[in-house]
Amino acid sequence: MRPLLILLLLVIFNSASTRAGKKVTADLSFASHYGDHMVLQQAPKQAMVWGFAKTLGSVVKITVQNDSYSATVQKNPQDNPGPGVWKVLLKPTPSSTPPVIISVKSVDGQVAIKDVLFGDVWLCSGQSNMQFTTDMMLNASEELEGASKYTQVRLFTASQVTSDVPLLNLKSVEEVWSLAAKDTVGHQPWKYFSAVCWLYGRMLYDRLKYPVGLIDTTWGGTPVEAWSSPDALRQCYGHSNQDRVKVNDPLFPEAPGDHTVLWNAMIHPFLNTTIYGAIWYQGEANASPPTMNKYKCTFRAMIVDWRQKWHEGTMGQTDENFPFGFVQLAPWRTKPNSPSGFSTIRWHQTYDMGYVPNYDLPKVFMAVAMDLPDPKSPWTGIHPRDKIDVAKRLVLSGLAVAYGKSGIKFQGPLPSAYFIDIGYYTLRVEYDSGKTPLEIRSSAGFELCCSHDNTSISQCNETSTLWHEVPLVSHDSTSVTMSYGKVAGCVGQWVMGMRYAWRETPCEFLACPIYSVENGLPAPPYVTVGIIGYVV
Ligand SMILES: *[C@@H]1O[C@H](CO)[C@@H](O)[C@H](O)[C@H]1NC(C)=O
Ligand SMILES: *[C@@H]1O[C@H](CO)[C@@H](O)[C@H](O)[C@H]1NC(C)=O
Ligand SMILES: *[C@@H]1O[C@H](CO)[C@@H](O)[C@H](O)[C@H]1NC(C)=O
Ligand SMILES: *[C@@H]1O[C@H](CO)[C@@H](O)[C@H](O)[C@H]1NC(C)=O
Ligand SMILES: *[C@@H]1O[C@H](CO)[C@@H](O)[C@H](O)[C@H]1NC(C)=O
Repeated sequence: MRPLLILLLLVIFNSASTRAGKKVTADLSFASHYGDHMVLQQAPKQAMVWGFAKTLGSVVKITVQNDSYSATVQKNPQDNPGPGVWKVLLKPTPSSTPPVIISVKSVDGQVAIKDVLFGDVWLCSGQSNMQFTTDMMLNASEELEGASKYTQVRLFTASQVTSDVPLLNLKSVEEVWSLAAKDTVGHQPWKYFSAVCWLYGRMLYDRLKYPVGLIDTTWGGTPVEAWSSPDALRQCYGHSNQDRVKVNDPLFPEAPGDHTVLWNAMIHPFLNTTIYGAIWYQGEANASPPTMNKYKCTFRAMIVDWRQKWHEGTMGQTDENFPFGFVQLAPWRTKPNSPSGFSTIRWHQTYDMGYVPNYDLPKVFMAVAMDLPDPKSPWTGIHPRDKIDVAKRLVLSGLAVAYGKSGIKFQGPLPSAYFIDIGYYTLRVEYDSGKTPLEIRSSAGFELCCSHDNTSISQCNETSTLWHEVPLVSHDSTSVTMSYGKVAGCVGQWVMGMRYAWRETPCEFLACPIYSVENGLPAPPYVTVGIIGYVV
């Protein structure tokens, strides 16, 4: 009865208000991403709850357990006509609170949502590797069998829609708030639910033991520009133009590439909902010029802008520096195995530093994934099926960075010093100032940029022919040694740069050269350019 009624109303209002572009389902309602079984952000933050009401200036009474709140129906903040908006910040509510009913009443009617939990709310966004669903991943059946044990992990998936203007409310919903179960976690390929989002949420739950709400808002084949507001794009493009980013992904022929259209339709509606943080898996669609060269700017600008807009939209309740985690681009093709836009994007994802968090990307954390190739993936090699290792790494760094758990080593090893031994034609690279025991799994992956000229660093650019592969020949517990003796291009020249794992697919599965013994994490891709030394 109810679905039919809603459908009828939708049809009526749709035709009655096509020009305003609005959909109204009732005189009094919650915003469409509020519903039964949802998770709201727990204390010490205050959850924001809001919706629509017809009668401007009327008072809406909101009841949660024994607490009641009231809000006055305000004019719709967008200029176009539409229903008024009511909005309330609940008092800080601990995660130990039993499931609550939230009921709302006014002259316009009465509506309620039930089985609402308090915990941490995470938003998951990006392109196909985040959209990639749990039923598609490696070991899916085991994962799905166990899903219903997670009664406190709740899922919501937004529909894929675009808009030329910022929307207050989602145009439609793909998966309403649901309890975890075989069919809600692994419904249908590419439909719902995001594997990385789910695994991240349920692994967090394994550690935190309180409710986790997951919002999946993703679209395969899309560039970062589509998910960015005009304010963010202005930082990188000087003005917010409306250029389309050309993306030709045969799997996602409908993928929108226009600036801001997904920010408008799939991010903006969530800005008035208190969240704990966001995770992101995207970059493939930006891995070629010209947008590739902007990614250092565009990626950071989007993060900074999302944080600021959510902070404002929830009256300060979403942290102004909320934790933002991302998966660094995974491998794709094994041939030709030369540097590709993927190396550039991976580097730009760290603001060209190789690690996060850092000064320019505070409270940002990542999972390195370049050592998890899956050339036989039925969804093509650009969609590796091992999402479990990805999520484990993301959760490890999330616990350290987003939750401040101390004593967690969450980063892979990074070079800290270089020693040239002229007598032996070797370069020794020390990692983490000698503090991290290394495990060496293979020997190919280092390159040196060698030149007679010691004045220019731009000669060692991405596509320069001065880079030479240099094999590892030995190692001790905290450093590796490579030999340039047989590399014709290096002897008698200046070493002007070193890079590591600078390939679209740098190694076989879990077999890049350098891992940390302590946490099993790979050394991230790395490049340094400048005078390292003269080699005789
Ligand atoms: C709500 O009020 C009832 C009756 O006054 C009381 O027994 C109950 O503990 C209260 N619940 C909460 C969550 O405060
Ligand atoms: C998949 O399951 C097999 C068998 O249980 C296990 O050996 C393997 O490690 C699992 N893969 C991942 C990525 O967890
Ligand atoms: C939500 O917050 C955003 C950003 O502050 C604002 O543009 C929008 O109007 C707000 N929506 C509602 C329903 O108040
Ligand atoms: C660069 O090379 C020249 C000789 O070719 C040398 O005199 C100079 O000291 C070198 N610069 C540095 C910073 O090592
Ligand atoms: C990159 O390096 C090569 C060789 O060192 C040089 O010819 C080319 O001009 C450089 N390109 C840029 C954009 O600096």
